[in-house]
Amino acid sequence: MRKEELLTEGWRFAKTHASNCWRRSFDDSNFRQVRVPHDYAIEGPFDENNDLQYIGIEADGRADGLAHSGRTGGLPIGERAVYRKQLFVPSERQGSRVTLEFDGVMFNSTVYVNDHKAGGHYYGYTSFEVDITDFVKFGQQNLVAVVVEPHYGMSRWYTGAGIYRKVKLLYKDPAHIAFDGVWVRSEVQGENAKLVVETDLCNGDAEEGLWLDSIVLDPDGNEVARTSAPVHILKAQTLEQRMELCGVQLWEQENPRLYRMVSRLHKEDQLLDETETVFGIRTLEFNKEGFFLNGRKTPIKGVCLHHDQGALGTAVWKDAIERQLDDLIEMGCNSIRTSHNPPCRELLELCDQKGLLVMDEAFDEWRSSSKVTDGYAFNFDDEAEKDLTALVRRDRNHPCVFLWSIGNEMPDQGVAQGAATTKWLTDICHRLDPTRLVTAGFNQVKRAIQNHLTDFVDIIGVNYWQDEYDEYRELCPNALFIGSETQSALSSRGVYEFPVPESFRAAQATESGLLDSYDMLGPAWCIPDQEFKALEDHPWMLGEYVWTGYDYLGEPTPFYEEWPSRSSYFGIFDLAGIAKDRYYSFKAHWTDKPVLHIFPHWTWPGREGKITPVHCYTSWPQAELFVNGVSQGVRKKVKGDTYQAYRLRWDEVCYQPGEITVKAMDETGKVCQCETIHTAGEPAKLELLANRESLVANGESLVFVTARILDKDGNLCPDASNAIRFEAQNGRFLASDGGDQTSLLPFADPEKPAFKGMLVGIFQSPANGQEGALTVKAEAEGGLKAELRIPLRAD
Ligand code: GAL
Repeated sequence: MRKEELLTEGWRFAKTHASNCWRRSFDDSNFRQVRVPHDYAIEGPFDENNDLQYIGIEADGRADGLAHSGRTGGLPIGERAVYRKQLFVPSERQGSRVTLEFDGVMFNSTVYVNDHKAGGHYYGYTSFEVDITDFVKFGQQNLVAVVVEPHYGMSRWYTGAGIYRKVKLLYKDPAHIAFDGVWVRSEVQGENAKLVVETDLCNGDAEEGLWLDSIVLDPDGNEVARTSAPVHILKAQTLEQRMELCGVQLWEQENPRLYRMVSRLHKEDQLLDETETVFGIRTLEFNKEGFFLNGRKTPIKGVCLHHDQGALGTAVWKDAIERQLDDLIEMGCNSIRTSHNPPCRELLELCDQKGLLVMDEAFDEWRSSSKVTDGYAFNFDDEAEKDLTALVRRDRNHPCVFLWSIGNEMPDQGVAQGAATTKWLTDICHRLDPTRLVTAGFNQVKRAIQNHLTDFVDIIGVNYWQDEYDEYRELCPNALFIGSETQSALSSRGVYEFPVPESFRAAQATESGLLDSYDMLGPAWCIPDQEFKALEDHPWMLGEYVWTGYDYLGEPTPFYEEWPSRSSYFGIFDLAGIAKDRYYSFKAHWTDKPVLHIFPHWTWPGREGKITPVHCYTSWPQAELFVNGVSQGVRKKVKGDTYQAYRLRWDEVCYQPGEITVKAMDETGKVCQCETIHTAGEPAKLELLANRESLVANGESLVFVTARILDKDGNLCPDASNAIRFEAQNGRFLASDGGDQTSLLPFADPEKPAFKGMLVGIFQSPANGQEGALTVKAEAEGGLKAELRIPLRAD
């Protein structure tokens, strides 16, 4: 019978060049003990010479070769390392197949067991299985060594390094259900649904008399269908079974109902293997009127996400991903594009549970290379089919996945052979999953049309260039289009610069390494707010994916040679997960909730009497601004006007300390919502806010605690940079960050300056399974102290 074990603890780790580091005889006594998932590059140190890339970025209009520091975060992602773990394999498992399942190892890994090479994998983003049966000794300790050999010049963003996703050890009968071997698809017919379940089986000993039972559990756990089929004596086979469900409960965004398929392989009464596969039942329909989920029009309000979790690096912590998704949902986001690579399983599990749709993306490069010096293109021919197959096989049960994306801005758009590659990849997706459409993100749409790449995707993904939407439609009148990448605004949370430009402009590198947050800056290829208008003017676009939901490590556009910028400015949230002003623009546009947010802050010593514009993101059509009680006039949204349709602005306001109040009104002029910001005094208090009310004492649960420096009246001191030291009792401090894109302090340092008045500390629950409390203590320069107790649950 199958037994699964997560291999989390007990890994010994070191960065090393030793060629024999995987051998049993190798002395690892000075290695560190680490927990897996683990990202060793996040420890740093940051250095501009880490992955300094000399390259011209064509997409950025910078074809001239430049030294790009910080393109992958200025972190040491290219160092070789080894993980070693002793594994006791019990003698009663003799006769079982023993396998390891890796959800992802960054990058280029080789797995050794007891001095034998057992397997390995190149691409860091796809899952793989290694059968180690022939190399293990039953009843003894065995050495598993995973050598990781990433290299520099392979990425345009921070990848992380190491066994950064979970690893499982499995024991299986020689007759078993294959890795990612169950696939359930459904066809809704009125209130009912027809299910087809395909199960890939291995019958290693070609046993006779085997049966497969497939049992459907509804969202409440009740058995609602069951079928049985005999298994052939072939060693490998796919069994297809069909079932009907009456009165199905659909997977909806607001109520994402999930079913489970229990697959039982048995011989008479003896159960040989059992797996559970989560699936959902819903209909997807795309046409020129839009995208319809279960028949309901659902414009895509999406964000692109890279996979790092800021201060935690890329090591997978489900709670960190959940925090991001919850905040995005609150903003009105309904979809994630996993730019530009397959995500971890946890992200999809959470999206299934939360009703978020996912565009599941495979690659950032195909055959033609020009984005990086040593990227996927160099191995594309050897690896692409394997990786795309792994992605589709792993993810095709997830109801959240509604589109496959075979790539992003591939330089192959510009070459005639690009069409054949597109067709090849799309065909792989369709063959493995005829239920979903395929897209790709094009940034040279006209060239892609000319070279016929767009003929071989079901939906044309358009990155930016909203001025050309009409032209694309004229060129391909029957095609469907989605804004696979939009906006790309640039900002640093809480940073405001004067004078505020009248209109949007292309951002330039600044001395401070920080960028203004009036949201008037974008890269040369995009005017952020025009995207809202572009979608309104082109209702046939299926929706948009904003670049990006969160700031991420690496790609600090528009800072190329300028160090120490080491993380991006594109996020709606900063790297620490704190909302920038921009968040409210999306919330106002994407939800029906009342939204009123004015900026900048109102603490500007030295600006007395100077023009200090006040802008406002709101869901209301008009508002009046008061400075110390004096009206600055009413502003109304002007439909169709790039600068006044999606925000209200008072550009002539003179700064005087005190308070500003905005009163928002409905169409009739009735005041419906107010917001006031006060000029802050000196730092006097430290406030701690946790993102959750309790934690599970399982060593997996995380709490994010935001420390805010306040004046005596409770106003945020918006420029405070007091150093804050975090400490945990009955739990562990993992990292802290304030979202400053130029900070070179290691994230794991317990003390660092607040950025614009705030710092987020990340804490891990203890793994003792005991009720109690995790205590977070924080102490800020100036003698400010605070303490927070977060209850621990045993479950
Ligand atoms: C796009 C690209 C993204 C990111 C973005 C920045 O061209 O697909 O990965 O680089 O630009 O605006």
